[in-house]
Amino acid sequence: MNNKKLIELAIEAKKNSYAKYSNFRVGASLLGESGQVYLGCNVENATYGATNCAERTAVFSGIASGEKKFTKVAIVSSSGEYTYPCGICRQVLFEFMGDDGIVILGDKEGNIKEHTIKELLPYGFKL
Ligand code: THU
Repeated sequence: MNNKKLIELAIEAKKNSYAKYSNFRVGASLLGESGQVYLGCNVENATYGATNCAERTAVFSGIASGEKKFTKVAIVSSSGEYTYPCGICRQVLFEFMGDDGIVILGDKEGNIKEHTIKELLPYGFKL
């Protein structure tokens, strides 16, 4: 699956964002080793701390579907700017992507940027 297609799927996922409090809508698409893609959006809550980010929604959906490892994740947001995963999501992505995981970011002009998860989370925590 190429980066452009993954970004398109993240844009689709963003449409389901529940961002009642921040109005900041995020979509993610996550490619599993099986070739299956899992979508995620941010899901906010009146108790703000119960909010789940788009990236983690996608990871949890994939794991719940039986996927064990992911190779790429694409992220877009309503800001139209490149939106980097938060610290908690970086750690969760690292758990299931390993050092080689690719993080793809899209902006409103259709530009695409790519990083490894290791670049975004050097010395990630492992047990
Ligand atoms: N958000 C994400 O979905 N992913 C990130 O990596 C950064 C933040 C969401 C959480 C919240 O619903 C909104 O963006 C504002 O923080």
